[in-house]
Amino acid sequence: MSIPFVEPFRIKVVEPIKHTTRPERESILAFAYNNLFGVPAEDVFIDFLSDSGTNAMSDRQWSAMMVGDEAYGGARSFTHFEAAVREVLGFPCVLPTHQGRGAEGILFKTLVKPGQSVPNNRHFDTTQANLLALNANPVDLAVDEASDPHSLLPFKGNMDLGKLERFIDQTGVENIPIGMLTVTNNSAAGQPVSMANIKATSELYRRYGIPFFLDACRFSENAWFIKQREPGYADRPVAEIALEMFSYADGCTMSAKKDAIVNMGGFIACRDEDLKQKLAQHLIIQEGFITYGGLTGRDLEAIAVGLHEGISEDYLDYRERHTRYLGEVLQSAGLQVYQPTGGHAVYVDAAHTLPHIPPAQFPGVALANQLYIEGGVRTVEIGSLMFSHPDPLTGEVIPAPNEMVRFAIPRRVYTRSHLDYVGEVAREVVKNAADLRGLEITWAPELLRHFIARLAWV
Ligand code: F0G
Repeated sequence: MSIPFVEPFRIKVVEPIKHTTRPERESILAFAYNNLFGVPAEDVFIDFLSDSGTNAMSDRQWSAMMVGDEAYGGARSFTHFEAAVREVLGFPCVLPTHQGRGAEGILFKTLVKPGQSVPNNRHFDTTQANLLALNANPVDLAVDEASDPHSLLPFKGNMDLGKLERFIDQTGVENIPIGMLTVTNNSAAGQPVSMANIKATSELYRRYGIPFFLDACRFSENAWFIKQREPGYADRPVAEIALEMFSYADGCTMSAKKDAIVNMGGFIACRDEDLKQKLAQHLIIQEGFITYGGLTGRDLEAIAVGLHEGISEDYLDYRERHTRYLGEVLQSAGLQVYQPTGGHAVYVDAAHTLPHIPPAQFPGVALANQLYIEGGVRTVEIGSLMFSHPDPLTGEVIPAPNEMVRFAIPRRVYTRSHLDYVGEVAREVVKNAADLRGLEITWAPELLRHFIARLAWV
């Protein structure tokens, strides 16, 4: 008997979703200036815009929320949250923030000065923008295979250690106040980073005295891939693997909206009490007091439970297979799927499907928009609209490494028949791909332009 996967949960609460007609979707998208971020969620049938904050919480999380302690200082819920961070990640110090970018903003404001550089395998959009906003320089040093949608390597999210060492030597340690590593590598198709690479990156940063922080949004998925793919880890519990990953870092930023399976929240965790005190000053100005950050007591309770549920092996096994199944469905519909499929999303190569649309006319946006028009499926471009930006030091335009469309899968939300439906929509889009046109920007802000840019079909 061959079963691709079975959900390790049953459904207790449902939320209706609504079909719209194609003419309705055409006018909805036009009204949103052809930017899917502007489309009302009610008018989306299957929403793969993001896996962030879009998760279905469990009955245990909802019941934990009922006992949330909303005290301004020293809430009991903070104690639960702090204990979960200690148990699951192993960090003694933690500050809650409203979400991941709040954590990044505070960490960078505390440590990074204008003109300095922060290396990473790849920054995601908000990490990149938080540094650019400080006139600092986010530098991406992933292995070359990260940009190759075909090579079937197990850890294409890895840092290129040779590039990192050369970069540190050329830039000078005094200009690198902190080094990052993102697990899994969201800008590189959700590819995992191996334990060996986390350890070696840590050793390199430590050799130069550079504090090492993980961008840990999807750490449980990364730990699961290590268990599946890295020699020596098959028999180790994911909980132990996660602790080992964090043991090499001085701290992390975390968006709990991902692998802590909640709808809102984040944190900064670290080992050094002095650093925590420095971070706390910015935290109190920007997010809130140190025992709630930007969150309510009930949010902290949901995170405390969700961190444990996120490292459940039944759940992670299902999660990987569910994502892989969508990859298979899209591949058989004729899209070019980035291989191997990552943890939280399937990425497809829009440049392959739309070779007649140049990067400057955003093939990823064209493909994503057409998936919406065809069947109400919302995805997101991960390409030139999101990532191409001027180098803060030279002004030269840095191109995006790939023109991709990401199908990000909310946790515990969609069933296999939803995925099959998406496959049928993709098949129709591929059939008519040659007729698709590109888009041009009619207005955009300077930073994070993809969220609110206005576009027109060429
Ligand atoms: N780092 C990574 C790797 C991310 O993927 C995200 C968010 C953040 C940081 C910021 O976290 O949203 O809580 O402020 N990624 C979402 C996405 C938005 O759709 O991939 P946040």
